[in-house]
Amino acid sequence: MNNISESIRRIIDFDWVNSTENEIEEILPTFGMNDEYPEEIPSIFKDYMGWGVRLWQYPNQLSKLITFLKGKKINSYLEIGVRYGGTFIIINEVLKRYNDYVESHCLDIIPPSEILDTYQHTFVRERFYYHQMYSQNTFFFNNIAGKEDIKLNKKIDLVFIDGCHSYTCVKQDYFSALMLGAKYIIFHDIVNHSTQGNQIVWRELKKIHTKTYEFVDQYEGMGQKYMGIGVIEVSPDDKIFPLFSPHY
Ligand SMILES: C[S@@+](CC[C@H](N)C(=O)[O-])C[C@H]1O[C@@H](n2cnc3c(N)ncnc32)[C@H](O)[C@@H]1O
Repeated sequence: MNNISESIRRIIDFDWVNSTENEIEEILPTFGMNDEYPEEIPSIFKDYMGWGVRLWQYPNQLSKLITFLKGKKINSYLEIGVRYGGTFIIINEVLKRYNDYVESHCLDIIPPSEILDTYQHTFVRERFYYHQMYSQNTFFFNNIAGKEDIKLNKKIDLVFIDGCHSYTCVKQDYFSALMLGAKYIIFHDIVNHSTQGNQIVWRELKKIHTKTYEFVDQYEGMGQKYMGIGVIEVSPDDKIFPLFSPHY
């Protein structure tokens, strides 16, 4: 069971709505996990690595994010830094259970993977756009909006930031998400010992946002902390909100 199409078919067929958090945690590795930086992945997952949709997440963290997202009113999704696209496909399918018309954008500096190409063309996922560019590129907003949009009226309800892992990149991506009027902004690697910049940005943002959530469970015996997911639910009560209110 390691073919790309089979894994995608199983993601599309899975009952995301009625499954429990534990059931989601158990099914996630069976769609296939990434094998880059294998030292970050617990050995219990070794048989799942290097095939399928090459998910680059900890199942005990992503299952909690998915549970959090269930039933949320989300019309559009952008993942900055998609790599192979495993996380993107899974989150997109969860969102589609609640809104079949969700508009979805992937962004990365690398070309679309075979996995994303298969997802889009074999499974005919419409309202799906791939932007091959740096998230700091001058044309970022034009590309996402599909045209020059002087006032930037384009809205993206959910933005997942997992591209360039430096303090300045993560902070810039956060500002971009606010300029897109994001209701929810997801941050990856908020506890990863090797991504200090992500950790610092997250600590700063927790102080100025009123609604934040963390999914940072670890696996035993790893020696260091890895990954970690943080979510900001943007609220008009947030200190930073007035600066970005034109986008909401
Ligand atoms: C850790 S991987 C993303 C993993 C993916 N989100 C997942 O969960 O499977 C980071 C990705 O960000 C991309 N990247 C790095 N710098 C970037 C930038 N400035 N703009 C956009 N993407 C970037 C890399 O090419 C890489 O594919």
